[in-house]
Amino acid sequence: MDQHIAWDDLPSSLKNAIEARTGRITSVRVATAGQNSPLAAIIDTVDGKVFAKGMPSSHRRVITQAREAAIAPFVSDISPALLWHFDEAGWNVLGYEYAPGRHADYTPGSPDLDRLVQLMGALSEIKVPDAPRPLKRAEDRWKPYVDDPASASVFAGPVLTHSDWTPDNVLVAEDRAWLIDWAWPTLGAAWTDPACWILRLMASGGHTAHQAERQACRLPAFRAADPAHIDLFAYANVRLWDEIAQSSTSDWTAKMAQAAKSWAAYRQTH
Ligand SMILES: Nc1ncnc2c1ncn2[C@@H]1O[C@H](COP(=O)(O)OP(=O)(O)O)[C@@H](O)[C@H]1O
Ligand SMILES: [Mg+2]
Repeated sequence: MDQHIAWDDLPSSLKNAIEARTGRITSVRVATAGQNSPLAAIIDTVDGKVFAKGMPSSHRRVITQAREAAIAPFVSDISPALLWHFDEAGWNVLGYEYAPGRHADYTPGSPDLDRLVQLMGALSEIKVPDAPRPLKRAEDRWKPYVDDPASASVFAGPVLTHSDWTPDNVLVAEDRAWLIDWAWPTLGAAWTDPACWILRLMASGGHTAHQAERQACRLPAFRAADPAHIDLFAYANVRLWDEIAQSSTSDWTAKMAQAAKSWAAYRQTH
C-alpha cells in the first residue's frame, strides 16, 4: 500500500499551486484512510476546508485522476463537488469540497446500511452519455476472469457504477452520506454495484454471504438480475481477488479474496 506523503515533505511548487486555488492555508491534515493517492489531505484555509488528492503526473495510475474529473459533473448530488483540477509542478491534483463525515460502518445491523442503499439507488438513476471517455466498461474489467470471454457481456450495461465500495469511500454524517473516490467509474449492468458491495460487506463488515445478499437484494436491480449472471460475476471475482491478493501483502486484499471465495461457494449451494 502506498503511504500518503506528509504535507511538509511535498515540493513547495506543488503546495504553492494548491494554495493558489484554495486561498491561504492555515493547517493540513493528511488523510489516514485510502490506499491509492500519494497526496490525500484535508486542507484548512481562511475560506474553509478543502480535500485535495493527487499524485505525480508520471504516476502509473494518473489516469484515475482524469476519470474522477470526468465523472464529477454527473455525481454532484451524491458526491462532494470537484472545485478544481490541475496538472502543474509535476503533480496532478483534484480539489474537492470537504465532506464532514466519518467512514461508513458495514457491520450487520448498522444504520449506515440504509444510507448505502439510498446512495446506490440515487446513483442508479444518474444518466451518463453513452461511453464518455475515459470510463471503464464492466465487461472489459471482468472478462479476463471468466472461462469464456464472450460470456462477460452479461456484465455490460449503460449504468454508471462506482465499483469500489470500500467503507473508506463512503462518508456518513448525521443527515446525509457522500460517495467519494471515483477512481474506477465503470459502465455496466446496474446489479454489478450491489454485487461489488456484497464482497465489501463480507470483507469489511463481517457479513455472512447470506446477510450480505439480503442487503444487496434491497436494490431492485440486484433482485431483478438473472441469478446465472450473478453466479458468473461471483466466480470471476474469485479469480480477480486471488490475483490482487497474490501481488499484495495487504491484509484487506486477503480478506477480499476470502470473501469472494465464500460468496461463490454460497451461490453454488443456494
Ligand atoms: N471530500 C472529502 N472530504 C473529506 N474527506 C475526504 C474527502 N474525500 C476523501 N476524504 C478522505 O480521504 C480518504 C482518501 O480519499 P480517497 O478519495 O478515497 O483516496 P484514495 O484513492 O487514496 O483511496 C478517504 O477515505 C476519506 O477519509
Ligand atoms: Mg479511497
